[in-house]
Amino acid sequence: GNTNLNAKLVLLGDMGAGKSSLVLRFVKGQFLEFQESTIGAAFFSQTVAVSDATVKFEIWDTAGQERYHSLAPMYYRGAAAAIIVYDITRTESLERAKKWVLELQKQGNPNMVTALAGNKCDLEEKRQVATEEARAYAEENGLLFLETSAKTAINVNDIFHEIAKRLPRA
Ligand code: GTP
Ligand code: MG
Repeated sequence: GNTNLNAKLVLLGDMGAGKSSLVLRFVKGQFLEFQESTIGAAFFSQTVAVSDATVKFEIWDTAGQERYHSLAPMYYRGAAAAIIVYDITRTESLERAKKWVLELQKQGNPNMVTALAGNKCDLEEKRQVATEEARAYAEENGLLFLETSAKTAINVNDIFHEIAKRLPRA
């Protein structure tokens, strides 16, 4: 039979990593070169069908600016899934992503399906984070890992699909 699931999903990561752009690509199929920095958080929803289920994602796109950090628990509390986003052209953004992983390991839902997204993979000439380094880190920490581009759409639907496949069935 086919199951209908509602899944709260939170995006976390450094400012400018591309969280809002990934959501805009996934939900509306659009990309903005001058996406505005998120204030507080923004809510979206989108439904995806996988083989045995239809998953309605309730998506919280959080603000990466440090001054909003204290709000994050409101958005990851009770979340079934998280996408932690870094920018492959900025090593510091991977360091920030690792801090989010630690915070979720300590304070998040232990059954959360967590993905690491190395975004802006269209900017190969500016790459600072090697794919294999991030993949190894993700494997050690039990994270789903994909490099994405909100600009070209590479792996954007895929990351949400992979999460949908891994969500516990009710
Ligand atoms: P905060 O809301 O401040 O936390 O930032 P954010 O993580 O939501 O980043 P946002 O989506 O606003 O993107 C920041 C900038 O990077 C924007 O100018 C985007 O156009 C650009 N950008 C986002 N994703 C990509 C991508 O995959 N490739 C390229 N080339 N640029 C991107
Ligand atoms: Mg944003």
